[in-house]
Amino acid sequence: MAEAAAELWAQQARTASGSRGVFRVALSGGRTPELLFGLLTEERFQSLPWEKTEVFWVDERYVPYDDQESNYRLARESLLDRVPILKESIHPMPTGSGDPARDAAAYEALLRGRFPGQSWPSFDLCLLGLGEDGHTASLFPGGPELAERHGWVAASRSPKGVADRLTLTMPVLLGSRLRLLLACGRGKSAVVKAVLGPVADPPLLPAQMVWHGEGRGVFLIDQEAACRVAPTSQ
Ligand code: 6PG
Repeated sequence: MAEAAAELWAQQARTASGSRGVFRVALSGGRTPELLFGLLTEERFQSLPWEKTEVFWVDERYVPYDDQESNYRLARESLLDRVPILKESIHPMPTGSGDPARDAAAYEALLRGRFPGQSWPSFDLCLLGLGEDGHTASLFPGGPELAERHGWVAASRSPKGVADRLTLTMPVLLGSRLRLLLACGRGKSAVVKAVLGPVADPPLLPAQMVWHGEGRGVFLIDQEAACRVAPTSQ
């Protein structure tokens, strides 16, 4: 799964930097992307256009950047400190004002400056994980921020772990050129089955909204996470 994700990242990076001169990627946190980040530091990916890569975040736990829970710390230690990306091209979500809503607005202002004149940001790659409750990014089932249709960044509350979060909103996720949803491990098998299942009546799980939404999405799951899903006929 991580190998396929790395190849997709490489393909998007080369295409975007070739056609638009920049590859803009939004990263999720959690454990799943760690394998992918490690692969991208290997010699065979050193030729990627790192100097034309701009890194943003899909979501962040509202903790200091050096906190063990920080998505920024995870990406910095497992990837960004180990590839020749320009420091000024790394845009972590701010978590220092003490007011998540205020920092969400500050990040939205940063994004509007990086995507000038656009009604929505268009990330070349939006890297997403999948929570066992069907959340993705830090958009949680039943969360009020799921209904946000105008703002680009919202403050949200997680029912588990670090409560205060910042997150890109659903329209931003769906507006990405490519959404890459990753899930691994048997613990995700039930939610993978739910996400791939029939689209029942609302309220859909946030990850279902991403998977069934318009635009281009890829859902990479390992064998363990796929164990409840019947193999598709070839
Ligand atoms: C976060 C993530 C979140 C994550 C899922 C899966 O900040 O926690 O962005 O959406 O992707 O919770 O987490 P794991 O990869 O650790 O299972």
